[in-house]
Amino acid sequence: MDFTDKDLVSIRDLDREQIEYILDLSKKMVPYARGEKVKRALDGKIMANLFFEPSTRTKLSFESAAYRLGCDVIDVSEMSMTSIAKGETLADTIRMVDAYCDAIVLRHPYEGAARLAADVSSKPVINAGDGAGSHPTQMLLDLFTMKEVKGSLDGLNVALVGDLKYGRTVHTLAQALTMFGVKLTLVAPESLQMPQDIVDNLKAKGCNPVKTSVLEDAISDADVLYVTRIQRERFPDPAEYQKVAGTYRIDNATLRTAKKDMIIMHPLPRVNEIATEVDDTPHARYFEQAFNGVPVRMAILCALMGGEM
Ligand code: CP
Repeated sequence: MDFTDKDLVSIRDLDREQIEYILDLSKKMVPYARGEKVKRALDGKIMANLFFEPSTRTKLSFESAAYRLGCDVIDVSEMSMTSIAKGETLADTIRMVDAYCDAIVLRHPYEGAARLAADVSSKPVINAGDGAGSHPTQMLLDLFTMKEVKGSLDGLNVALVGDLKYGRTVHTLAQALTMFGVKLTLVAPESLQMPQDIVDNLKAKGCNPVKTSVLEDAISDADVLYVTRIQRERFPDPAEYQKVAGTYRIDNATLRTAKKDMIIMHPLPRVNEIATEVDDTPHARYFEQAFNGVPVRMAILCALMGGEM
């Protein structure tokens, strides 16, 4: 399958066959991601890592993925350290970075920034999160984690919990899961439910999600409990954040009715949605999920930058 020079900006850039190809390639990358095998498939290439919003996992796992493949990295971690601080537009910045690298990874606080970058860049642009918009590489590592643990994605019962309004990971993941006939339950306070345009999109693809604000309604049937942080930084009014902060907290007591093999995922960082006592249960998969960012991003870089594995 040829992905060379393709952009990865939103779920609209991928169909089921392409997702399955990336997941299969990610599986092959695991021993390379662990450093047990070495192949410099992107030797001589340069990846630009532009992070204009905080990140631990996405930024570092992209860097790790690039280095594991022999790809050099140039990076920026703060807008204030670029000429954007002098008034340069994002479009002109991207045109410049395009001239210095072979692929651009961009995290930006504004929804649509990655699409704009893809429109002006001749190199592949990978959206590493644009405001409350999309996070397609997180979606791929989430699917990879579910498939690795459950064996198959088809027909899983997945509950998405927390901030479904501002959480970009769940926006992208929900739409991807519809390609696999997954049953979705959307657990959120009414004010943080999934945006209606995304729900309409899910319905158009044959998924009729169940909406609830009661966590206990979802736990006993779930194969996957995908928990998210309430995105404080996206609330226009701090008082509105205070009204919903701490709405859901998963601890061992909450999990009393869960299936034995139910898994808990979280894109991380967590604040207080999951008690640390849950980390020691077989349900907890969020740290393994974060590691999976490396092989999955290796697969994405290889596919888009033309690396041979
Ligand atoms: N999951 C995720 O995007 O984490 P970071 O914000 O640390 O990159």
